Order: sequence, then C-alpha cells, then structure tokens
Amino acid sequence: MEEIAKPGMIVADIGSWVGGSAAVLAKVAQRNEGVVFCIDKWEGSPGTETEEMAKKVDVYQVFRERMIMSGFWSTIRPMVMYSSSAASIFRDGILDLVFIDADHRHEFVKQDILNWLPKLKDGGILCGHDIFKKYSSYEQEIREVIDNSLDRNAIFPKPHMCIHPGVTRALYEILNDNYTIINASSIWAMRAVRRTTRSSIAEAHPESFHPGHKIDVKACEKMLLDVKEILDAYEIKYWLWFGTFLGIYRDGGLIEWDGDVDLVVYTEDLEKTFQCGGLFHEKGFEFSPWPDAMLYRDGEHMDLSDFRLEGNERVSGYYRVEAADFEADTCVNFLGKKWRIISNPERWLGYLYGADWRIPKKDFITPGRPLGQK
Ligand SMILES: C[S@@+](CC[C@H](N)C(=O)[O-])C[C@H]1O[C@@H](n2cnc3c(N)ncnc32)[C@H](O)[C@@H]1O
Repeated sequence: MEEIAKPGMIVADIGSWVGGSAAVLAKVAQRNEGVVFCIDKWEGSPGTETEEMAKKVDVYQVFRERMIMSGFWSTIRPMVMYSSSAASIFRDGILDLVFIDADHRHEFVKQDILNWLPKLKDGGILCGHDIFKKYSSYEQEIREVIDNSLDRNAIFPKPHMCIHPGVTRALYEILNDNYTIINASSIWAMRAVRRTTRSSIAEAHPESFHPGHKIDVKACEKMLLDVKEILDAYEIKYWLWFGTFLGIYRDGGLIEWDGDVDLVVYTEDLEKTFQCGGLFHEKGFEFSPWPDAMLYRDGEHMDLSDFRLEGNERVSGYYRVEAADFEADTCVNFLGKKWRIISNPERWLGYLYGADWRIPKKDFITPGRPLGQK
C-alpha cells in the first residue's frame, strides 16, 4: 500500500462487507488526502454465509458505524450498487488502486478484473483477495477439482488445503497467472501497464486508418498467416469478414483497394485474446485486446469484430447473423490454408454488400450497416 501512496489517491474497494479491506485502504488514503470508493450492495455473496447474515443484520449500518468509529468515514465514498454497475460510472485511467473481493464465483471475478483493469492509471495496482497458489502451480488432479468447482466460494480438496476456485481460475485465464501473491497474505496484485487501445494505435499510425488507405496485400497476407497461427494455438475460432471475406470468396484474394483486414471472433472467445498478447508482441504486432480487439503491424491493421450470442443469432453492432451459420465450419482455401467463412456465404455477402456484391467497386466505402436484407 505504502508503495502506491500518493497525494489525492483514488481507490476502489470492490466488496466492502463490514470494512476490513476498506479500513486498511482508508488509512493510507486518508494520510494522503485521497478517497476510497466502497462498492457493495451489502447483500452478501450468493451461496455464502454472508448472504444469510445480510438477511438478518443491516450490514451497511455495521460498515458505516465501524468506519465512523475508526475515523475513516470522511475518506469513504460508499456506493450501494453491484460492482458491474459501479465500474461503468468511472472513466478509464482514473484509479490508483482497485481491490477486488466481491462475488468469488468464476464468471464474476473474471468480469470484475475485465471491468476494473481499464479504470486504473498507468502503473496503478489491481489486487484482490483469496488466492493461495497460482492455478499453473497446482498439479493436474487439483486443477481438475478447481475446474469442476468454479461456482463454489471455497473448496478443501486435501487437509490444510483451501482454494477459491473462481478466483484462482479467473486469474489464470485473464492474467495468464502474471501476478504476485503478497507474502502469503492471500492477496494477489499486479501493476497495470498502459493498455494499448484501438484509439492509441490509431493515433500513433494515422496513415493506416485514413479513409483513403489502401492495403499492402503482401503485408496483409503475412498478417493473416501470423494471426492464424496464434489464434489456432489458443483454440480461438475466427471467420473471414467484410472485405477480407468478400475478396477471398469472390476473387480468391485480398481486395487491393480494401482499407484493412477483418476477422470475426465470438465475444466469449475474444476475452482469451488477453492471453495471446505476448505472442502477438513477439511477432511485432501492436495489439489492443478485448473489448476493442485490433492488431497493427507494418502500416496495416486488422479488426477482430466480436459477435455475441442472442437467442438464435450472433450480433455485432448493426449486424445479425444466424448463429447456426457460424457453426457449420464452412471453409475456403487461401494461401495454402483453410479459412472459416459463415455458411450460406452468398446470402450473407448480399446482406453485407447488397444484391450486386459480385461487382467489384473501387470507390466502395463501408457503410457501417448491412446494405442488403436477410
Ligand atoms: C468477502 S466479502 C468482502 C470482505 C471485505 N473486502 C473485507 O475485507 O472485509 C464479499 C463482499 O462482496 C459483496 N458482493 C458480492 N457480490 C457483489 C457484487 N456483484 N457487487 C458488489 N459487491 C458484491 C458482498 O455483499 C460482500 O460484502
């Protein structure tokens, strides 16, 4: 804590309960005229004894009284809401420290890390509670127990062995176990380095994003092959999309007056791109991970549009595609490899580009909306 103490520091305590973590954080923040946002519905965590306790006791009042009695109340900013709602209130890059200790189920810990990481300043600290050992350092047998207990708050697979499976697995999936466990305290921490974002890449390389930009076909072919190797290694599925799909399906190659390269990935898989970051960097890419996934190298960029599942459809912005058409594993050959495209390609090219999609148009500008109807 002392390491990141600075005047006017802004801290978020996610899951405050009766104020254990809040008091530690407020002690440092108060000395530095900072504030601690305490985010909790004070309803307890589903499936734990805190949920039962919160039905009997007004836990928020206990928290409030404890903070008043310890002299920290003026430093505390309670926010009575769920973590996911609170995260959207803070703008990116504003917090010095975030402590995550709310719902310990796997999906919730994952969402907390993903939601709060962008809120940190460059060099800020993301940390949280309830880790004893990294997922990658458990033997296979224990990892399987963890994988089968992701919705449990805590498990005890052997005598004297306590594991919080959701926390352990989420830290592995999202941070690739790149964090520190602080002096056997069951607290994990990592320093947030400046995130490369779509806009920071676009600002650094405006020529690639200029509306008149035309791709260097060879550089884009190489980009496709390198990205394919990495996504395949991580078992992330992808499909050719927009002009890349049109060109390869219609003409057997990239369209030389296209402005970029486009792939589709599933939203749920795109979160995994956090783990690929190192490999992308090794191959010389600048990389903005989910939720704005994009790659840049040698003057060219590739968008990874993510499609989420909504009923029987996959949806991204204005675009809606029948989910089954992604699932069929329809492929085209290009550069000696197989590339997934959605099935019923001609129907969907008509939807994307209008009925005359077979006619090449050099002055075509992507409209941002489908031109044809389903
Ligand atoms: C383990 S306790 C926190 C303990 C606290 N950090 C301390 O050091 O004493 C977990 C807290 O998370 C809160 N919580 C659970 N799900 C939450 C959510 N989705 N958003 C915000 N808080 C949540 C619960 O109400 C509970 O108070």
